[in-house]
Amino acid sequence: MNVTIIVALQEELDAFHGARDLTSVPEPGPAPAFRFRYGAAEVTLLRGGVGKASAAMVAQYAIDRFTPDYLFMTGIAGGLRSWLALGDVVVSRDCVQHDLDVTALGVPLGQVPFTEHRFLAADPRLVELALATPVPGQRVVAGRILTGDQFITAADAARMQRLHSLDGDAVEMEGAAVAFVATVNRIPFVVIRSVSDHADAAAPADFRTWLRRAAANSYAVCAGILDALTTGTGRPAG
Ligand code: ADE
Repeated sequence: MNVTIIVALQEELDAFHGARDLTSVPEPGPAPAFRFRYGAAEVTLLRGGVGKASAAMVAQYAIDRFTPDYLFMTGIAGGLRSWLALGDVVVSRDCVQHDLDVTALGVPLGQVPFTEHRFLAADPRLVELALATPVPGQRVVAGRILTGDQFITAADAARMQRLHSLDGDAVEMEGAAVAFVATVNRIPFVVIRSVSDHADAAAPADFRTWLRRAAANSYAVCAGILDALTTGTGRPAG
């Protein structure tokens, strides 16, 4: 079984480095790549960089090059619910591009124009396996992940209003781009994000304080899914 995991930041990669024996893969590709085994799974981990364009590029590259059975995007996010604590983990029920705005032509916010793609549903089995992974002292919940090319701090009231109209639980900068590429390529995917801040005025400071702790919590949930997939309980039919 091949699994590809994409992170954006070095600190998110470090969470895997701290826990697994990673081998660097000399790649001519667009992102630093590493390999590790997890039971029966051969896992390729890529540091794809920040933003939707980088994430989509690396996701398509990874699908073509590594032909994964599953694709995970993981790391940190801003929490959009007051009941989410810093360090809690949001597992994508679905993802949407909150800054894809063709509403002037009557296209709903977040919808890719001239397609049906708006709320991109994650693989239900991967979501279920993620939710079954305990993270000590934190909640692991299913939710909607909003993605855009901005670090959200609530300074822009109009943007916040648009964000809230999509009823999201967490906001980040890559998930829906990876979800879109995975959906078009028919690869089961999930986005795992731990809350580093609340996308508010304190977000820049909280982000720095919580980055590594939140990244470690996201790693723990990825490991839980890999555990279940490779010990049989989560193995897909075929
Ligand atoms: N990733 C972590 N926190 C974020 C925020 N507030 N906005 C966008 N991406 C984030």
